[in-house]
Amino acid sequence: MAHLFARLVAAQDRWAKPFGDFNHRWLTALFGPIRPLKDFLNGTWLGHPLHAVLTDAPIGIFAAVILLDVLNQRIAADVTLVLGVLAMVAAAVAGLADYTDTDETPRTRATLHATLMVVALLVYLASLAVRASGPADRTVPIVLSIVGFIIVSAGAYVGGEVAYVFGNMINRHAWRGAGKKWLPLQMPADAELPEGTPTKAKLGINNLVLVRQGETIFALHDQCAHAGGPLSEGSIVDGCIECPWHGSRYQLADGHLRRGPSVYDQPTYEVRRSEAGWEARRSS
Ligand code: FES
Repeated sequence: MAHLFARLVAAQDRWAKPFGDFNHRWLTALFGPIRPLKDFLNGTWLGHPLHAVLTDAPIGIFAAVILLDVLNQRIAADVTLVLGVLAMVAAAVAGLADYTDTDETPRTRATLHATLMVVALLVYLASLAVRASGPADRTVPIVLSIVGFIIVSAGAYVGGEVAYVFGNMINRHAWRGAGKKWLPLQMPADAELPEGTPTKAKLGINNLVLVRQGETIFALHDQCAHAGGPLSEGSIVDGCIECPWHGSRYQLADGHLRRGPSVYDQPTYEVRRSEAGWEARRSS
């Protein structure tokens, strides 16, 4: 069954890839000038993807619509359907913000997810329109609501794949240990660590990015928490390091997130010089 679903989903890549690339262009142009709003929709203020929070509401509400229809609670079913449509639109707007910074295969699958959800929304709107006309026989709007729920469920399946299979909007440091042991830091000699320039260094199996400002050396994990972009190839802006891939910014001093699309802080490290040479350890 799992393989059948996987093949069915992958078969849509042919149209979903160019459609996703097209969407990426207009969404980037749309959200570019309103970055604070996009940060809000990503969930930077929440420390959690906002889309993931909002998606549960419409699915639960649409299930309640089916139940109320079965119980022939006409007004309650219609009002609940309106609430479901509003919740779906809110979840979609937040999802668009995440979709803007999704690349490659996850973007293609997110395109399929979004397309299914838009089709479901249209089916629900059609159901709502028929209900509003007050038909004596409500078979058609009820069937439309059930069809809408099936499409929403399929869309949710694909959306789950984007998050759980491809790790989209998952914290890239979720499984990173917080060991406090000092370890040797393989870094350029002092003379080669330029002032204010991100420089890559190695701490055990981890890559770090170092930034020297005067006597202070800031160290963060090199892999951006959002989607793994190399921070050592980023730039320094206003006391932060900016990721070269989608522009997330983390404070050099403590790794706190200052700008999305990431919604997570970046791990930071303490650096010291000992008799054995330079060492570093994960900050608490
Ligand atoms: S990888 Fe997306 S902002 Fe860094």
